[in-house]
Amino acid sequence: MKNKKTYLAEVYLNGQWMPPQEATVSVFDRGFMFGDGIYEVTPFYHGKPFRLQDHLDRLKYCLEQIKIPFDISILEPLMLEAISRSRLATSDAAVYIQISRGAAPRNHYFPDNPKPNFLMYAFPVELENFSGKRWKVMVSEDFRWQRCDIKSTALLANTMMKDDAISDGYNENLLVRDGYFTEGSHSTAFFVSKGIVFTHPEGPHILSGITRKVVLEICRDLGIGYKEEALALERISEVEEVFLTGTTTQITVVSSLHLKGKEIFTSQKGQITARLQEEFLKRTRG
Ligand SMILES: Cc1ncc(COP(=O)(O)O)c(C=O)c1O
Repeated sequence: MKNKKTYLAEVYLNGQWMPPQEATVSVFDRGFMFGDGIYEVTPFYHGKPFRLQDHLDRLKYCLEQIKIPFDISILEPLMLEAISRSRLATSDAAVYIQISRGAAPRNHYFPDNPKPNFLMYAFPVELENFSGKRWKVMVSEDFRWQRCDIKSTALLANTMMKDDAISDGYNENLLVRDGYFTEGSHSTAFFVSKGIVFTHPEGPHILSGITRKVVLEICRDLGIGYKEEALALERISEVEEVFLTGTTTQITVVSSLHLKGKEIFTSQKGQITARLQEEFLKRTRG
């Protein structure tokens, strides 16, 4: 189902809280014109941030990569304030942060002395009941750029891919570049083969997911073998379990994969995914 979410009461834009309909930026904002900006989504479980430092570190990395000057030390108290102002301290929520390079005469090159536009808001999100979900996922070509490690607001490729999936009755689109699975349109992909957990290594072809990092820590702690190694599409017949992870996806079981309409993988919930979900719940709710 599309367009099911509602708008929020209040957002924070460039130093002020205001209703979203009053929050405006210039038409020459480079985020609007070029997608020249980055974003971050941090989960809050019953009011408590989860892996906040990791999210702030990734945001800092992305700002540095695209050379937007911004002091991230102001963020933490504002994020907590966003949660309390939106009355989300006793339910599950996330804080969205977006920083664009700001308005400048339209040139491809970066302006001197940019004035970034900074937007933030808290929104309610369902972080429970992921263990019961079974996602039917399509597989398609990863035609994104070569800097997927930057959490850029320029998400046209990702949105096209997700829309293809939803329009055709799937939950997510799992991407393949040069014959190897990379990640989902908004999630990290994991495969279990012969009891070993595989996920694409960090680098320019995936976003370095915070949930990915947590899952790998859990593997280490529980003694589950894992390899940060890309899995070839042609080896899908050797896979016993597939799951996707992300801040809002949590750890979601993939029940089937479909390439050009043909089912190439099917499975019920596997043992390893179940163990990871159980431990993930303990760590996020503990
Ligand atoms: C392309 C992509 N990969 C992976 C992820 C998962 O990242 P995280 O676990 O930090 O939410 C996301 C989340 O939005 C994403 O957009």
